[in-house]
Amino acid sequence: MQIDPWSNVNVKDYDRVIKEFGVEKTENLHKKLPLENIYFKRGLIFGHKDLNKIIEASTKKKPFVMLTGLMPSGRFHLGHKVVADLMVYFQNLGAECYVAVADIESFLTRNIPLEQAKKVAIEEYLTNYIALGLKPKKTKFYFQSNGSKNYMNFSKIVSKKTTFNELKSVYGDLTPEKIISALTQVADILHPQLKENNGPKPVVVPVGTDQLPHISLARDIAYRMRSEYNFILPSATFHKLIPGVKGGKMASSDPSSAIFLTDSPEEVTTKIKKYAFSGGQKSLKEHKEKGGNPDIDISFIYLKTMFEPDDKKLNKIYQDYKSGSLLTSELKEITIEKINSFLKDHQQKRKQAIKQIDKFIIKE
Ligand code: TRP
Repeated sequence: MQIDPWSNVNVKDYDRVIKEFGVEKTENLHKKLPLENIYFKRGLIFGHKDLNKIIEASTKKKPFVMLTGLMPSGRFHLGHKVVADLMVYFQNLGAECYVAVADIESFLTRNIPLEQAKKVAIEEYLTNYIALGLKPKKTKFYFQSNGSKNYMNFSKIVSKKTTFNELKSVYGDLTPEKIISALTQVADILHPQLKENNGPKPVVVPVGTDQLPHISLARDIAYRMRSEYNFILPSATFHKLIPGVKGGKMASSDPSSAIFLTDSPEEVTTKIKKYAFSGGQKSLKEHKEKGGNPDIDISFIYLKTMFEPDDKKLNKIYQDYKSGSLLTSELKEITIEKINSFLKDHQQKRKQAIKQIDKFIIKE
Protein backbone atom coordinates (compact mmCIF):
# COMPACT_ATOMS: atom_id res chain seq x y z
CA MET A 1 0.00 0.00 0.00
CA GLN A 2 1.32 3.39 -1.00
CA ILE A 3 -0.01 6.70 0.32
CA ASP A 4 0.68 9.83 -1.68
CA PRO A 5 0.48 12.70 0.83
CA TRP A 6 0.07 15.26 -1.97
CA SER A 7 -2.83 13.62 -3.74
CA ASN A 8 -5.67 14.54 -1.39
CA VAL A 9 -6.49 10.93 -0.67
CA ASN A 10 -8.82 9.94 2.09
CA VAL A 11 -7.24 6.77 3.45
CA LYS A 12 -10.00 4.57 4.83
CA ASP A 13 -8.68 1.05 5.21
CA TYR A 14 -7.26 1.50 8.68
CA ASP A 15 -6.69 -2.19 9.34
CA ARG A 16 -4.52 -2.32 6.27
CA VAL A 17 -2.64 0.81 7.33
CA ILE A 18 -2.01 -0.77 10.72
CA LYS A 19 -0.71 -3.96 9.17
CA GLU A 20 1.37 -2.58 6.34
CA PHE A 21 2.89 0.41 8.09
CA GLY A 22 3.48 -1.25 11.43
CA VAL A 23 1.19 1.25 13.15
CA GLU A 24 0.16 0.30 16.69
CA LYS A 25 -3.56 0.21 17.46
CA THR A 26 -4.80 2.69 20.07
CA GLU A 27 -7.61 0.46 21.41
CA ASN A 28 -7.51 0.81 25.20
CA LEU A 29 -4.62 3.24 25.24
CA HIS A 30 -6.88 6.12 26.27
CA LYS A 31 -7.17 4.61 29.73
CA LYS A 32 -3.42 4.99 30.17
CA LEU A 33 -3.33 8.65 29.20
CA PRO A 34 -2.44 11.15 31.93
CA LEU A 35 -5.38 13.35 30.81
CA GLU A 36 -8.57 12.24 29.10
CA ASN A 37 -8.88 13.02 25.41
CA ILE A 38 -12.01 12.65 23.31
CA TYR A 39 -10.16 11.80 20.09
CA PHE A 40 -8.43 8.83 21.72
CA LYS A 41 -11.49 7.79 23.67
CA ARG A 42 -13.80 7.76 20.65
CA GLY A 43 -11.34 6.16 18.27
CA LEU A 44 -10.81 9.12 15.95
CA ILE A 45 -7.15 8.48 16.68
CA PHE A 46 -6.93 4.89 15.54
CA GLY A 47 -3.20 4.33 15.62
CA HIS A 48 0.15 5.53 16.89
CA LYS A 49 3.85 4.89 16.88
CA ASP A 50 5.75 4.75 20.17
CA LEU A 51 3.28 6.85 22.11
CA ASN A 52 4.37 5.09 25.28
CA LYS A 53 7.59 7.10 25.24
CA ILE A 54 5.52 10.25 25.38
CA ILE A 55 3.21 9.01 28.12
CA GLU A 56 6.26 8.02 30.12
CA ALA A 57 8.02 11.37 29.63
CA SER A 58 4.86 13.22 30.61
CA THR A 59 4.25 11.06 33.67
CA LYS A 60 7.84 11.40 34.85
CA LYS A 61 7.87 15.10 34.03
CA LYS A 62 10.78 14.67 31.65
CA PRO A 63 11.18 16.99 28.67
CA PHE A 64 9.42 16.05 25.43
CA VAL A 65 8.24 17.80 22.31
CA MET A 66 5.04 18.01 20.28
CA LEU A 67 5.79 18.95 16.69
CA THR A 68 3.37 19.25 13.84
CA GLY A 69 2.94 21.29 10.67
CA LEU A 70 0.25 23.03 8.71
CA MET A 71 -0.41 23.64 5.05
CA PRO A 72 -1.47 27.27 4.97
CA SER A 73 -4.26 26.83 2.45
CA GLY A 74 -7.97 27.36 2.76
CA ARG A 75 -10.19 28.46 5.62
CA PHE A 76 -9.92 26.81 9.03
CA HIS A 77 -12.64 24.20 9.59
CA LEU A 78 -13.50 21.44 12.06
CA GLY A 79 -11.03 19.09 10.36
CA HIS A 80 -8.16 21.46 11.15
CA LYS A 81 -9.41 21.78 14.70
CA VAL A 82 -8.45 18.18 15.48
CA VAL A 83 -4.72 18.85 15.04
CA ALA A 84 -5.00 22.11 16.97
CA ASP A 85 -6.72 20.37 19.89
CA LEU A 86 -3.98 17.75 19.90
CA MET A 87 -1.27 20.43 20.04
CA VAL A 88 -3.01 21.89 23.07
CA TYR A 89 -3.52 18.45 24.57
CA PHE A 90 0.18 17.57 24.40
CA GLN A 91 1.09 21.04 25.64
CA ASN A 92 -1.12 20.37 28.65
CA LEU A 93 0.76 17.11 29.19
CA GLY A 94 3.93 19.15 29.43
CA ALA A 95 5.24 19.23 25.87
CA GLU A 96 7.34 21.95 24.41
CA CYS A 97 5.55 22.80 21.13
CA TYR A 98 6.94 23.30 17.62
CA VAL A 99 4.54 24.29 14.88
CA ALA A 100 5.93 24.34 11.35
CA VAL A 101 4.24 26.45 8.72
CA ALA A 102 4.80 24.44 5.54
CA ASP A 103 5.12 27.49 3.35
CA ILE A 104 7.91 25.96 1.26
CA GLU A 105 5.83 22.84 0.72
CA SER A 106 2.67 24.82 -0.14
CA PHE A 107 4.65 26.92 -2.61
CA LEU A 108 6.32 23.93 -4.24
CA THR A 109 3.33 21.61 -4.38
CA ARG A 110 0.35 24.00 -4.49
CA ASN A 111 1.81 27.15 -5.94
CA ILE A 112 0.81 29.32 -2.99
CA PRO A 113 3.03 32.44 -2.86
CA LEU A 114 5.13 32.69 0.33
CA GLU A 115 3.61 36.03 1.30
CA GLN A 116 0.09 34.69 1.01
CA ALA A 117 1.03 31.57 2.97
CA LYS A 118 2.36 33.76 5.76
CA LYS A 119 -0.82 35.80 5.96
CA VAL A 120 -3.09 32.73 5.96
CA ALA A 121 -0.90 30.92 8.51
CA ILE A 122 -1.15 33.79 10.95
CA GLU A 123 -4.68 35.05 10.40
CA GLU A 124 -6.42 31.71 9.90
CA TYR A 125 -4.32 29.07 11.64
CA LEU A 126 -2.34 30.69 14.44
CA THR A 127 -5.31 32.80 15.55
CA ASN A 128 -7.46 29.70 15.85
CA TYR A 129 -4.73 27.73 17.63
CA ILE A 130 -4.47 30.44 20.27
CA ALA A 131 -8.23 30.65 20.65
CA LEU A 132 -8.35 26.85 21.04
CA GLY A 133 -5.90 27.11 23.92
CA LEU A 134 -2.33 27.03 22.59
CA LYS A 135 -0.11 29.00 24.98
CA PRO A 136 2.97 31.01 23.93
CA LYS A 137 5.10 29.56 26.69
CA LYS A 138 7.50 26.93 25.27
CA THR A 139 5.92 27.22 21.80
CA LYS A 140 7.81 27.82 18.57
CA PHE A 141 5.72 28.79 15.58
CA TYR A 142 8.13 28.90 12.65
CA PHE A 143 8.12 29.00 8.87
CA GLN A 144 9.91 26.44 6.71
CA SER A 145 11.24 29.39 4.71
CA ASN A 146 12.66 31.03 7.81
CA GLY A 147 13.92 28.50 10.34
CA SER A 148 17.20 28.60 12.24
CA LYS A 149 20.45 28.15 10.33
CA ASN A 150 20.91 24.69 11.81
CA TYR A 151 17.43 23.67 10.74
CA MET A 152 18.01 24.97 7.22
CA ASN A 153 21.28 23.07 6.92
CA PHE A 154 19.82 19.98 8.45
CA SER A 155 17.02 19.85 5.85
CA LYS A 156 19.78 19.40 3.24
CA ILE A 157 21.96 17.09 5.29
CA VAL A 158 19.16 14.52 5.68
CA SER A 159 19.26 13.90 1.91
CA LYS A 160 22.45 11.93 2.48
CA LYS A 161 20.54 9.34 4.50
CA THR A 162 18.07 8.21 1.86
CA THR A 163 18.16 7.14 -1.77
CA PHE A 164 16.12 7.94 -4.83
CA ASN A 165 14.85 4.38 -4.87
CA GLU A 166 13.73 4.54 -1.28
CA LEU A 167 11.85 7.79 -1.90
CA LYS A 168 10.21 6.26 -4.95
CA SER A 169 9.07 3.24 -3.02
CA VAL A 170 7.72 5.41 -0.19
CA TYR A 171 6.00 8.10 -2.25
CA GLY A 172 5.43 6.68 -5.71
CA ASP A 173 5.60 9.29 -8.40
CA LEU A 174 8.28 11.86 -7.54
CA THR A 175 9.17 15.37 -8.61
CA PRO A 176 12.03 17.56 -7.36
CA GLU A 177 9.42 19.62 -5.49
CA LYS A 178 8.08 16.57 -3.68
CA ILE A 179 11.58 15.45 -2.73
CA ILE A 180 12.42 18.85 -1.24
CA SER A 181 9.08 18.93 0.59
CA ALA A 182 9.59 15.45 2.03
CA LEU A 183 13.13 16.15 3.22
CA THR A 184 12.09 19.49 4.69
CA GLN A 185 9.39 17.68 6.63
CA VAL A 186 11.91 15.12 7.88
CA ALA A 187 13.99 18.08 9.12
CA ASP A 188 10.89 19.56 10.77
CA ILE A 189 10.28 16.32 12.63
CA LEU A 190 13.87 15.64 13.69
CA HIS A 191 15.34 19.10 14.35
CA PRO A 192 13.83 19.53 17.85
CA GLN A 193 16.32 16.83 18.83
CA LEU A 194 19.39 18.72 17.61
CA LYS A 195 21.89 19.84 20.25
CA GLU A 196 20.90 23.50 19.81
CA ASN A 197 17.42 22.47 20.92
CA ASN A 198 18.67 20.44 23.87
CA GLY A 199 18.07 17.09 22.20
CA PRO A 200 17.80 14.22 22.04
CA LYS A 201 14.33 13.92 23.53
CA PRO A 202 11.05 12.23 22.68
CA VAL A 203 8.98 13.99 20.00
CA VAL A 204 5.36 13.26 19.17
CA VAL A 205 3.91 14.23 15.80
CA PRO A 206 0.10 14.28 15.63
CA VAL A 207 -0.99 13.89 11.99
CA GLY A 208 -3.71 12.68 9.67
CA THR A 209 -3.19 9.31 8.04
CA ASP A 210 -2.09 10.87 4.75
CA GLN A 211 1.15 11.97 6.47
CA LEU A 212 2.17 8.43 7.39
CA PRO A 213 4.86 8.11 4.69
CA HIS A 214 6.63 11.18 6.08
CA ILE A 215 6.58 9.70 9.57
CA SER A 216 8.01 6.40 8.33
CA LEU A 217 10.76 8.14 6.40
CA ALA A 218 11.62 10.40 9.34
CA ARG A 219 11.88 7.37 11.63
CA ASP A 220 14.09 5.48 9.18
CA ILE A 221 16.37 8.47 8.75
CA ALA A 222 16.49 9.06 12.51
CA TYR A 223 17.60 5.47 12.91
CA ARG A 224 20.35 5.86 10.31
CA MET A 225 21.58 9.03 12.03
CA ARG A 226 21.50 7.58 15.51
CA SER A 227 25.24 7.20 15.95
CA GLU A 228 25.98 10.83 15.07
CA TYR A 229 22.93 12.49 16.60
CA ASN A 230 21.65 10.06 19.21
CA PHE A 231 18.11 10.57 17.93
CA ILE A 232 15.16 8.91 19.60
CA LEU A 233 12.80 7.61 16.91
CA PRO A 234 9.94 10.12 16.70
CA SER A 235 6.51 9.06 18.00
CA ALA A 236 3.28 9.86 16.19
CA THR A 237 -0.49 9.69 16.48
CA PHE A 238 -2.70 9.07 13.46
CA HIS A 239 -6.25 10.32 13.23
CA LYS A 240 -9.05 9.68 10.79
CA LEU A 241 -10.45 12.65 8.93
CA ILE A 242 -13.54 14.38 10.24
CA PRO A 243 -16.12 13.74 7.51
CA GLY A 244 -17.71 16.62 5.64
CA VAL A 245 -21.33 17.54 6.34
CA LYS A 246 -22.49 15.64 3.26
CA GLY A 247 -20.18 12.70 3.97
CA GLY A 248 -16.91 12.39 2.08
CA LYS A 249 -14.11 14.80 2.91
CA MET A 250 -14.43 18.08 4.73
CA ALA A 251 -12.71 20.57 2.46
CA SER A 252 -12.62 24.36 2.26
CA SER A 253 -13.31 24.03 -1.45
CA ASP A 254 -16.85 22.80 -0.73
CA PRO A 255 -18.16 25.38 1.79
CA SER A 256 -21.55 23.72 2.24
CA SER A 257 -19.83 20.53 3.39
CA ALA A 258 -17.39 22.25 5.77
CA ILE A 259 -18.10 23.85 9.14
CA PHE A 260 -15.74 26.81 9.43
CA LEU A 261 -14.78 28.17 12.82
CA THR A 262 -16.02 31.56 11.65
CA ASP A 263 -19.48 30.30 10.63
CA SER A 264 -22.52 32.12 12.01
CA PRO A 265 -25.23 30.17 13.89
CA GLU A 266 -27.49 30.52 10.85
CA GLU A 267 -24.88 29.07 8.53
CA VAL A 268 -24.36 26.08 10.80
CA THR A 269 -28.11 25.53 11.11
CA THR A 270 -28.58 25.59 7.34
CA LYS A 271 -25.64 23.31 6.65
CA ILE A 272 -26.74 20.67 9.15
CA LYS A 273 -30.47 20.86 8.42
CA LYS A 274 -30.13 20.95 4.68
CA TYR A 275 -27.03 18.91 3.93
CA ALA A 276 -26.01 16.72 6.87
CA PHE A 277 -26.01 13.13 5.69
CA SER A 278 -28.53 11.25 7.78
CA GLY A 279 -28.81 7.66 8.93
CA GLY A 280 -32.53 8.14 9.48
CA GLN A 281 -35.32 6.47 7.54
CA LYS A 282 -37.17 8.03 4.60
CA SER A 283 -40.44 8.69 6.41
CA LEU A 284 -41.32 9.47 9.99
CA LYS A 285 -43.41 6.34 10.21
CA GLU A 286 -40.63 4.15 8.91
CA HIS A 287 -38.11 5.79 11.24
CA LYS A 288 -40.29 5.13 14.28
CA GLU A 289 -40.74 1.52 13.23
CA LYS A 290 -37.26 0.59 12.11
CA GLY A 291 -35.05 3.16 13.82
CA GLY A 292 -32.09 5.01 12.39
CA ASN A 293 -28.44 4.12 11.87
CA PRO A 294 -26.27 6.39 14.04
CA ASP A 295 -23.02 4.87 12.79
CA ILE A 296 -23.36 6.48 9.36
CA ASP A 297 -25.17 9.62 10.52
CA ILE A 298 -22.95 12.71 10.23
CA SER A 299 -24.69 14.55 13.09
CA PHE A 300 -24.12 11.59 15.36
CA ILE A 301 -20.52 11.23 14.20
CA TYR A 302 -19.88 14.91 15.05
CA LEU A 303 -21.32 14.41 18.51
CA LYS A 304 -19.33 11.24 19.04
CA THR A 305 -15.96 12.47 17.82
CA MET A 306 -16.11 16.12 18.88
CA PHE A 307 -19.03 17.57 20.75
CA GLU A 308 -20.43 15.12 23.31
CA PRO A 309 -17.68 14.03 25.68
CA ASP A 310 -20.17 12.55 28.17
CA ASP A 311 -20.35 8.78 27.51
CA LYS A 312 -23.75 8.34 29.13
CA LYS A 313 -25.37 11.12 27.15
CA LEU A 314 -23.85 9.92 23.92
CA ASN A 315 -24.97 6.39 24.56
CA LYS A 316 -28.53 7.49 25.22
CA ILE A 317 -28.59 9.41 21.93
CA TYR A 318 -27.20 6.34 20.18
CA GLN A 319 -29.81 4.00 21.63
CA ASP A 320 -32.72 6.39 21.12
CA TYR A 321 -31.77 7.00 17.51
CA LYS A 322 -31.36 3.31 16.85
CA SER A 323 -34.71 2.50 18.37
CA GLY A 324 -36.42 5.26 16.39
CA SER A 325 -37.62 7.27 19.37
CA LEU A 326 -35.15 10.04 18.51
CA LEU A 327 -35.92 11.58 15.13
CA THR A 328 -33.41 12.86 12.59
CA SER A 329 -34.67 16.42 13.04
CA GLU A 330 -34.16 16.11 16.79
CA LEU A 331 -30.68 14.66 16.45
CA LYS A 332 -29.80 17.50 14.10
CA GLU A 333 -31.15 20.03 16.61
CA ILE A 334 -28.89 18.60 19.35
CA THR A 335 -25.88 18.77 17.04
CA ILE A 336 -26.62 22.31 15.85
CA GLU A 337 -26.97 23.46 19.44
CA LYS A 338 -23.64 21.88 20.43
CA ILE A 339 -21.71 23.26 17.46
CA ASN A 340 -23.17 26.73 17.85
CA SER A 341 -22.47 26.93 21.54
CA PHE A 342 -18.86 25.91 20.88
CA LEU A 343 -18.55 28.47 18.06
CA LYS A 344 -20.02 31.30 20.10
CA ASP A 345 -17.41 30.82 22.78
CA HIS A 346 -14.63 30.23 20.25
CA GLN A 347 -15.38 33.33 18.22
CA GLN A 348 -15.20 35.40 21.38
CA LYS A 349 -11.81 33.88 22.18
CA ARG A 350 -10.63 34.51 18.64
CA LYS A 351 -11.00 38.24 19.14
CA GLN A 352 -8.74 38.03 22.19
CA ALA A 353 -6.31 35.73 20.39
CA ILE A 354 -5.43 38.33 17.77
CA LYS A 355 -3.78 40.43 20.47
CA GLN A 356 -1.46 37.56 21.39
CA ILE A 357 -0.08 36.73 17.95
CA ASP A 358 3.21 38.59 18.42
CA LYS A 359 4.14 36.37 21.34
CA PHE A 360 4.26 33.34 19.03
CA ILE A 361 6.11 34.34 15.90
CA ILE A 362 9.74 33.54 16.35
CA LYS A 363 12.23 35.82 14.74
CA GLU A 364 15.46 34.13 13.84
N1 TRP B 1 2.88 18.04 5.06
C1 TRP B 1 2.01 18.54 6.09
C2 TRP B 1 0.62 18.75 5.50
O1 TRP B 1 0.41 18.56 4.35
C3 TRP B 1 2.54 19.79 6.73
C4 TRP B 1 3.82 19.56 7.50
C5 TRP B 1 5.02 20.13 7.23
C6 TRP B 1 4.02 18.74 8.65
N2 TRP B 1 5.94 19.76 8.14
C7 TRP B 1 5.39 18.91 9.02
C8 TRP B 1 3.19 17.91 9.39
C9 TRP B 1 5.91 18.22 10.10
C10 TRP B 1 3.73 17.23 10.48
C11 TRP B 1 5.10 17.38 10.83
O2 TRP B 1 -0.29 19.14 6.19
